[in-house]
Amino acid sequence: MTERSEQQGQPERPSEPRRRRAHTTSRDLERYAGLFARRTQVMRSSAMRDLMAITARPEVISLAGGLPDTSTFPADSFAAQMTRIAHESSAEALQYGPTEGFEETKACILEVMGAEGMAPDPDDLIVTTGGQQAIDLIAKTLVNPGDPVICEAPTYPGAVPTFCSYEADVHQVSTDDEGMRIDELEELLGAFATAGRRPKFIYSVPSFQNPAGVTMSGERRRRLVELAREHEVLICEDNPYGLLRFEGDPEPTLYSLDGGDYVLYIGTLSKILSPGIRIGWVAAPPPVLEKIGLGKQAADLCTSTLTQYFVREYFAEGRWREYINDLVEIYRDRRDAMLEALEHHFPEQAEWTHPEGGLFVWATLPDYIDTTDLLAKALRENVAFVPGRAAYVDGRGGSSMRLNFSASNEEELREGIRRIGSVVSEQVALYETITGELRAEPEPDDDDSGGEVVPLPKR
Ligand SMILES: Cc1ncc(COP(=O)(O)O)c(C=O)c1O
Repeated sequence: MTERSEQQGQPERPSEPRRRRAHTTSRDLERYAGLFARRTQVMRSSAMRDLMAITARPEVISLAGGLPDTSTFPADSFAAQMTRIAHESSAEALQYGPTEGFEETKACILEVMGAEGMAPDPDDLIVTTGGQQAIDLIAKTLVNPGDPVICEAPTYPGAVPTFCSYEADVHQVSTDDEGMRIDELEELLGAFATAGRRPKFIYSVPSFQNPAGVTMSGERRRRLVELAREHEVLICEDNPYGLLRFEGDPEPTLYSLDGGDYVLYIGTLSKILSPGIRIGWVAAPPPVLEKIGLGKQAADLCTSTLTQYFVREYFAEGRWREYINDLVEIYRDRRDAMLEALEHHFPEQAEWTHPEGGLFVWATLPDYIDTTDLLAKALRENVAFVPGRAAYVDGRGGSSMRLNFSASNEEELREGIRRIGSVVSEQVALYETITGELRAEPEPDDDDSGGEVVPLPKR
């Protein structure tokens, strides 16, 4: 092609995009520093988001994410529904929608909530851009800087940056294998009452908690709802995993026990359909919901109309429960593979939870191991987890880790746990060598090369 025809036939090539400079100079910092709002000083990055960039490398087995397995999603149904929407409803599906969401989307949400024994009035619901936006809008609506908020210890790592950015005074109540310790909560609420302070809400993930995998017992749920009423404190129940139960009987939701006076309920389709569609919701008493709606108008006007149309069509196919049943089968096997691998590859000094559903196991190592440091070592072995500190606001959780079993197949899970187990065992051995503590006789291991293990002498 001649120079002339090139000029005539081709649009002018845009100049190269300006590359971001690798380093921020002190001059840059000075230029912007005076502009930042005070709250940016307490904003925190989400540990999982930071890790996602590193763990996207194909050679890394990531047990760090909270990603559902969407590879099993029926792609044909997705293609057919989106094509139908394009042909039949493109004008509406590509338009803005109401801030509170379409009635048809709410009808689908009512089906999902109905499956867990809840039947809210559709007017008590707002469709949100994922459950994450609902957490943000609730905090935006209720929290002034310095206001107390109570949550579990550990808590959902994605809620920590939200509470921090609204400058909440976060108090974490211990959990055990029956969920939040209600005796400890009662003491804390008593202390607040004595001090004349009223916490804005108690945030809880009662079923298959993220990150600990534990489920709150029925007795504790009832007592929690009673305490909320006695102290006139709201509860924010976040329930993305309730329908992902592998075994055992379901516990009633806090929302159904309370009837919707004190419990704000957050749901999402992220873990039972797709996180990419960004469809969540919040159910709240009308005065609270009205303010949440104002917050949402300011945040994003409305949740994607296009994906709300998709949800409507998908639910009309009538197979959404079947898909969840399929996921439950897959995740149960993966959970079992992870638990077996932990048994096999983690040293006896470690402990972990045995979730009856959901996506996560929480493992706790001896307290001389710092899992943030351990992550750097694990990444060198091409495996990742979420260090426990991400689930606390007060620096606790340093020897724990969150392990996800939904996003990797059984072989990857076994290999991932083997790699983490080997860096953990190295640390345990190193500690015992330094301190001279006697090393426990290891279980015979099929993978061992047969080398004799000599217990280190006790000093
Ligand atoms: C407890 C909890 N709440 C909220 C979310 C956010 O989910 P969504 O994709 O609906 O924003 C998650 C995601 O992992 C979660 O585990």
